[in-house]
Amino acid sequence: MRELLQIFPELRTWVQTLDLEQTHRLRQSFEKIPFQEWQALKILSQQVFKKKSLSAKRWTQPPCFMLQDRQIQSTLWQQAESRGMQHLRHGKVAALTVAGGLGTRLSFPGPKGLVPVTPLKRKTLFQVFAEKLRAIERLHGVRMHWFIMTSSDTHEATQEAFQKNHWYDTQYLHLFQQGVLPAFTMDGMCLLTHEPGVNYYPDGHGGVFKALVSTGCVDKMSAYGIETLSYFQVDNPLVCIGDCNFLGLHLNRMSDFSTKVVTKTSTDEKVGVFVNKGDVLQLMEYSEIPGYLSVKKTKDGQLYFKLGNTAMHLIQRSFLEAMAEKKLPIHTTYKAMQYWHPLLQSHCSASCQKLEYFIFDALPFAKNPLLLEVDRKEEFSPVKNGHGQDSLDTCVKDQINRWNRWFANCGLNVDLGDKAINNAHRLEISPLFADDYVSFKKMWNALVVKPNCFENLYLE
Ligand code: UTP
Repeated sequence: MRELLQIFPELRTWVQTLDLEQTHRLRQSFEKIPFQEWQALKILSQQVFKKKSLSAKRWTQPPCFMLQDRQIQSTLWQQAESRGMQHLRHGKVAALTVAGGLGTRLSFPGPKGLVPVTPLKRKTLFQVFAEKLRAIERLHGVRMHWFIMTSSDTHEATQEAFQKNHWYDTQYLHLFQQGVLPAFTMDGMCLLTHEPGVNYYPDGHGGVFKALVSTGCVDKMSAYGIETLSYFQVDNPLVCIGDCNFLGLHLNRMSDFSTKVVTKTSTDEKVGVFVNKGDVLQLMEYSEIPGYLSVKKTKDGQLYFKLGNTAMHLIQRSFLEAMAEKKLPIHTTYKAMQYWHPLLQSHCSASCQKLEYFIFDALPFAKNPLLLEVDRKEEFSPVKNGHGQDSLDTCVKDQINRWNRWFANCGLNVDLGDKAINNAHRLEISPLFADDYVSFKKMWNALVVKPNCFENLYLE
């Protein structure tokens, strides 16, 4: 207790009121983290809103395979696709989803993976991903292992939902829990629970490296012969898992860590951008990039730093393992949080400092990292907010528009007009029918009896 009071002397009067058992519980909870780490975290928590002054002297736009390169370098693309496909068919690829976040902005009651996201069937995000994996298994005749990172906040509910839904017909599922970090009030007091104990929170998506190793998942991957992880966040139902083109480019480059990017739409879009600092590829979070750089334009009026992060990565297993040994920086995010205030003896809700590791801090350690631009309309529409940009509403519209576009591209009479969604048909296509335009076209053409009404059409 001496150590706890050394770091938080303001708790002394309250601690003196605790009985033996409560004192013991509080100490045990505090000791989850070594004393030196507490000291460092406390110092960090006292630097509220202090922005690092960044020298942007040698920052440049990093190289990236852009969409138009596909036509120009079609042979390279085809070779990459066939190499990627072989890798996939040999069982060397698994899916890795990070699903431990608190989802504060969306404020959905439960893990985000359980948000009903599709327009007609109201399938959850987890079900959509499960169907994508089953489709890959069917198409390529391979087992798709699926590793899902949960947190103390989402684990039980996630497990229950999978159990209740017969594991969404997936057979090779591995749920594992990430680590924790404490959070702080704005004046540097750690958040507590009523029990009493320290209130710990998930340690950010960057916690995935340590969690995969400490829970034995990396050993499992190695035993199954998995070499590459197709990593994605739980909030994007448009994700293309195990994309063979992307896989092939990643393997040909001998990259440790590759990322799909989308062109940033406006200066204020809340998306991290890739930057070369000297020769080192890094990601600047939207909250951390200096303002004058986020508005910097090229001569032809385009954003200079425009390569937006989709958080769809390919990561080599060996790299994951190596990163678990490294100490990543800790970032502070500001979120409304609830906690027990020991001095007021009541529950409070206030904006607090949440500490997190970010996965992209691994980038500077990665060999030959690769960026690939993808079509946002086809692959990226995350559910982040309760309303407005990147909300459930925009995501449903984006799915509907995508499927309507497929019909239109096949020459079918789907009039999207100018105001796409207003004229689009409310329909749904399961990944089990097709998960991209090329396979959709093939499947549609092969249908013997074709439906002639698109409204409320469901294809599986
Ligand atoms: P976000 O940055 O969107 O955070 O996470 P969030 O916690 O889900 O939502 P907000 O910011 O509170 O509204 C991006 C991805 O990283 C996962 C999330 O589940 C999501 O898939 N994540 C985030 C974790 O797995 N663990 C964490 O500790 C944080």
